[in-house]
Amino acid sequence: MKKIFITGALGQIGSELTVKLRDIYGTDNVIATDIRKNESEAAQSGPFEVVDVTDSKTMIEVAKKYNVDTVIHMAALLSATAEANPVFAWNLNMGGLMNALETARELNCKFFTPSSIGAFGPSTLKDYTPQDTIQRPTTMYGVNKVAGELLSDYYYHKFGVDTRGLRFPGLISYVTPPGGGTTDYAVEIYYEAIKNGRYTSYIDKGTFMDMMYMPDALNAIVELMEADASKLVHRNSFNVTAMSFDPEEIAAEIRKHIPSFEMSYNVDPVRQKIADSWPNSIDASAAKEEWGFKAEFDLAKMTADMLEKLGK
Ligand code: SER
Repeated sequence: MKKIFITGALGQIGSELTVKLRDIYGTDNVIATDIRKNESEAAQSGPFEVVDVTDSKTMIEVAKKYNVDTVIHMAALLSATAEANPVFAWNLNMGGLMNALETARELNCKFFTPSSIGAFGPSTLKDYTPQDTIQRPTTMYGVNKVAGELLSDYYYHKFGVDTRGLRFPGLISYVTPPGGGTTDYAVEIYYEAIKNGRYTSYIDKGTFMDMMYMPDALNAIVELMEADASKLVHRNSFNVTAMSFDPEEIAAEIRKHIPSFEMSYNVDPVRQKIADSWPNSIDASAAKEEWGFKAEFDLAKMTADMLEKLGK
């Protein structure tokens, strides 16, 4: 990776990934793009271009202008938003991915796009979900993610594009809040704990989902992209996870720092149904074996860091 083009650079992952990649590869070598510009560090700290991912012409033009050798495609709708507007989600998530893959093919680029635990469904083995298993998701987001994994594989086999991907769990960060995801409760809970000392969860107790702290997610992207291609048996997409918990466990961890923290429940049937269709925990051993994936943060370490950073 020498000259990197990022879509969705101002989103939940992109905003931190852009800053990290600029630290590693040089400010001018990371071209941030998004549908609109804002005042964030990612938008202001280096090259930025407005790119709507459904507009293939502009995407290719901008990528050519900077002569990029890597495309990192992050622009997408998350699960709950996609469920509320499935046709729009299909057009944005699949149309955007297709245009990004075509850009990578035309410019002979390395390619990354994230998949998700949402690529699994109710018929998938729920505990320690294997790398290679049944994928019959029941959400539009999941359908998009499975199709995206297959399309990325197709571009590798058919056109030789060096495509790589990760199946991310819920990602937790104190920088850019997520929007419209099912796992967002595990981010909101920290903000509310600091601000109000209480949180009303839309996900029910006993609902286990995989999670990861953002620094581990960013490292995983860089490590996978830099991994020796000859060692990769899988490409799109590797299971990665750092922890699995339910709302009660994260609340108990927060109480170690804020003993008066109160948790209540007002379950949202839409997001609960999505969460119930996803694994309790996934098996990341393929990522560990093929390219040395490792997460630094468990629930205790992440909670301490989140509360300290948000407290400031
Ligand atoms: N965090 C994502 C979501 O909830 C999962 O990929 O949609």
